[in-house]
Amino acid sequence: MSVTAVVGLQWGDEAKGKFVDLLSTEADLVARFNGGDNAGHTVVNPMGTFKVRLTPNGFSNPHAACVIGPGVVVNLATLVNEVKSIESSGIDVRSRLWVSPRCNVIMPYHPLVEKIYEQAKSASRTGTTGRGIGPVFADKVSYNGIRLFDLADERVFAEKLRVQLSIKNPFLQAFGMPALSFEAVFDEIRNLYLQIQECVREPYGLVQDMLARGGQILLEGAQGALLDNIWGTYPYCTASVTLAGGASAGLGIAPQCITQIVGIAKAYTTRVGAGPMPTELEDEVGKTLQVEGQEYGTVTGRPRRCGWFDAELVRFTVQLNGVTRLALTKLDVLDTLPQIKICIGYRLPESGERLRRYWEIDATRLEQCEPVYIEMEGWQQSTRAARRFTDLPPQAQAYVHKIEELVGAPVGYVSVGAERNATIQIAAD
Ligand code: GDP
Ligand code: IMO
Ligand code: MG
Repeated sequence: MSVTAVVGLQWGDEAKGKFVDLLSTEADLVARFNGGDNAGHTVVNPMGTFKVRLTPNGFSNPHAACVIGPGVVVNLATLVNEVKSIESSGIDVRSRLWVSPRCNVIMPYHPLVEKIYEQAKSASRTGTTGRGIGPVFADKVSYNGIRLFDLADERVFAEKLRVQLSIKNPFLQAFGMPALSFEAVFDEIRNLYLQIQECVREPYGLVQDMLARGGQILLEGAQGALLDNIWGTYPYCTASVTLAGGASAGLGIAPQCITQIVGIAKAYTTRVGAGPMPTELEDEVGKTLQVEGQEYGTVTGRPRRCGWFDAELVRFTVQLNGVTRLALTKLDVLDTLPQIKICIGYRLPESGERLRRYWEIDATRLEQCEPVYIEMEGWQQSTRAARRFTDLPPQAQAYVHKIEELVGAPVGYVSVGAERNATIQIAAD
């Protein structure tokens, strides 16, 4: 049996989608366990280029079951459109898709409630993807959620929707928004549900059978460790658990079943939305990273903030996730730089004293910290054609080894392009 979790080690967009697609060629089952359609995972493989937000990245392997576990929140419009779009590429995903009826459903009022919160917070807003993720998780934990189970029965759905609209509509109206019509919401959601109904089936038994048969399971994390609701830079974070530990509850497998944890980290740092990012660069180098890395959000199209690799944060997220192998991605984006910096810690603003442990401070303190850097020589040549570690220029090899040493996990993969084959695999010692 092998169960591999793929998780992001920074603020999301580390290229988890590319690695799940790559590893899925050997998988029997690929499952999402957290987040919702705030995720945007890009895959470039022989079947085409896909930007998926909910569908697990096993859809390109015709033998793999694709599972959306109960820890995921589902926007039915996104799911229906995504399935249609994958089908239009000639891939049959419907017969292999299992969406847990335990998933909470994003309702039309969730993005509106989120808008009210974000507007009220003004300058201190989180800078969300606007998908209603915070409000749907808030309803879930306060027992106000509507689950896919509820949509199967018109009467149950109608009753729950009436209660929620009796709470949400006065709230929306108090902030100058029109009330939502019961009939319009009911019809819209039921109609979407009917289009995907055959895929709404509890995957628990399938997953357990697969474990018992010794199958290969791949768990696809969304977001990244620094966006985790507990351990991330709260309140500049997301609403779900983004860590490997979340895969257990988010899918329904015992923690000891997870045999490998592949942590994905970009060779530099990016962040979309607000919140502290100590290594952010607002100069020409930052611009180079943004342009060369095509750093624009998959879901919102917003430019991603860019900066140097933060080894202090990644060392922490490696430990938090129990990473067994690291995938260092987008190394090629650094190809033109003469000098490259790596953050190895922070200085406190008042005393100039070195801060040894990131996890002792919160987002406000992190915002004030100044990064301490080491500097390495760049390689100033293309790495895009490299397929073996020894194909990389010596300076690039030294950079990879330095990161390995600083974050405390072995690098198993280096990615030098978006395509599936633009990957260097490094055998474990
Ligand atoms: P995810 O959310 O973690 O799956 O990452 P995204 O798909 O949002 O963002 C990663 C982006 O980088 C995508 O556009 C990928 O196609 C692209 N990409 C992945 N790996 C590499 C790489 O090694 N080099 C370059 N230049 N682009 C890459
Ligand atoms: P993938 O899976 C990057 C960020 C948002 C915002 C914060 C909260 O593609 O890596 P939310 O809409 O979740 O309430 O927004 O989290 N965020 C992401 N940033 N990649 C993602 O997903 C993200 N999902 C959420 O930008 O700062
Ligand atoms: Mg993304």
